[in-house]
Amino acid sequence: MIENVPCRLAVLVSGSGTNLQAIIDRIEAGELNAKIVCVISNKADAYALTRASKHGIPVVVHENTAFPERRAYDAATVEILRGYRVDLVILAGFMRILTEVMVSAFPHAIMNIHPALLPSFQGLHAQQQALDYGVRYSGCTVHFVDCGTDTGPIILQSVVPVDQDDTEDTLSARIQNAEHQTFAAAIKLFVEGKIHVTGRKVRISA
Ligand code: GRF
Repeated sequence: MIENVPCRLAVLVSGSGTNLQAIIDRIEAGELNAKIVCVISNKADAYALTRASKHGIPVVVHENTAFPERRAYDAATVEILRGYRVDLVILAGFMRILTEVMVSAFPHAIMNIHPALLPSFQGLHAQQQALDYGVRYSGCTVHFVDCGTDTGPIILQSVVPVDQDDTEDTLSARIQNAEHQTFAAAIKLFVEGKIHVTGRKVRISA
């Protein structure tokens, strides 16, 4: 990364986009030397698209229904990302598992956020899984993406207490606050060239 040239981000979404909003806010506040060059959604009605448009960010509706299989969809996604000359791909509530077509096109340059302390409670409804298990603490994890479900090298984690009266909604809201901080912090580390990956281990330099 050339110093002072903003890192070019693509944010992939499927839903409400509160994490997208947090990233937009950090960039606009001058806290993150990055530019969101496109927001891509596999859902035409994702509210995240409205958030992006309000900030003048190009949006792409890229629905998976038109594609016969996951690899073909991912190949088309890679084309879009290459067209925008993307440095870092952010999965912010993007509800699809990537194939090696995407993962190998952006080695250690695709980040996801998961609403639990991985490797616990992978997959869907992580907050409800945590409640059902009875843990006292949960949280969120930012990790690089590989072809598994929430299995890639861990970059940052934040711990959130679980209240005994929590519902899925109340715990999700508390975790989401932590997500917004943690995702921005991980992106900042990437932008500053401070992340080094060896196998599963991520080292963060000063
Ligand atoms: C977050 O809870 C994230 O952990 C999960 O999907 C949710 C996306 O929320 N991967 P939002 O669309 O950013 O509000």
